[in-house]
Amino acid sequence: MTVKPYKSEAGSKKSQVAGMFNNIAPKYDFLNHFLSMGIDKIWRKRAINLLKNIPNPLVLDVATGTGDLAIEANKRLQCKVIGVDISVEMLKVAQEKLEKRGLTEYISVKEGDSENLPFETDSFDAVIVAFGVRNFENLGKGLTEMCRVLKPGGKMVVLEFSKPAYFPFKQLYLFYFRHILPWLGGVISKDKDAYTYLPESVLSFPDGEDFDNELVAAGMKPVKRYKQTMGIATIYLSEKQQ
Ligand SMILES: C[S@@+](CC[C@H](N)C(=O)[O-])C[C@H]1O[C@@H](n2cnc3c(N)ncnc32)[C@H](O)[C@@H]1O
Repeated sequence: MTVKPYKSEAGSKKSQVAGMFNNIAPKYDFLNHFLSMGIDKIWRKRAINLLKNIPNPLVLDVATGTGDLAIEANKRLQCKVIGVDISVEMLKVAQEKLEKRGLTEYISVKEGDSENLPFETDSFDAVIVAFGVRNFENLGKGLTEMCRVLKPGGKMVVLEFSKPAYFPFKQLYLFYFRHILPWLGGVISKDKDAYTYLPESVLSFPDGEDFDNELVAAGMKPVKRYKQTMGIATIYLSEKQQ
C-alpha cells in the first residue's frame, strides 16, 4: 500500500512528497535535530565513515534535501559531491547553506528525480541517501537508477529509519513516534500531515533483511547492515557487482 502525506488530496505520492517538503523546508533542519535530539547527526557521520577507504571519490547524494549528508561527505572524505532532490524549496535551503559555508566549489545541488537520474551510467564511486528512499514513489525504480549510475564495484550507503524490535524500548519509541512526534512536528512546522506521514511511512517501509532484498532486486550486493540506536535507524552498505 502506498502511504501518501495528504490522504484527502489528489496527486501522486511524488508530487505530494515534493509539496510537503516544499512546505516544511524552512523548519526542516531545526525539526530534524530537535525531534531526534541531535542523534541524526551521529548517524550521518557513521554512514559517511563507511566510505573512508575510497580514494578521492565522486559522490552522488540522492534526495539531498537541505544538504546535510552531502556536507558531511565533503567534510569527511574531502570529495566532490552532487546532490539531487525533487523539492526546490529544500534545495534553496541547501544552496544558501553551501554559499554561507563557502562549499559551492565542492558541492553542487540540482533538481533531479531518483527514479530518473540525470547522469550517465557508471558515473559515481559512491551513491548515498539519508531518509530519502522511504519517500520514493517507486522504491525499486529509485534503487535501480542509483545502481545504474554507480561505477562497477561502487558503494551505496542508505540511511533510513527502521523499526526497533525489543521490549520495552520498542513500545516507548512507538508511543513517542505515533503520538508525541506528530503533535510536536505539526505545531512547529504547521503541517500536521507531514509529521503524521513520518511514522506511517516508516512503519510500512521494508527494513532489515526486507530492505536488503530490495537492494538485490535493484542489482546491488548487500555488504552489511548497521543498526543505529536500538534499531530506530539502519545504515545499509551495498556494492555494485564488478
Ligand atoms: C527526509 S528528507 C531527507 C533530506 C536529507 N537527505 C537529510 O538527510 O536530511 C527526504 C528528501 O527526499 C526527497 N525526495 C523524495 N522523493 C524523491 C525522489 N523521487 N527523488 C529525489 N528526491 C526525493 C524529498 O524532496 C526530501 O527532500
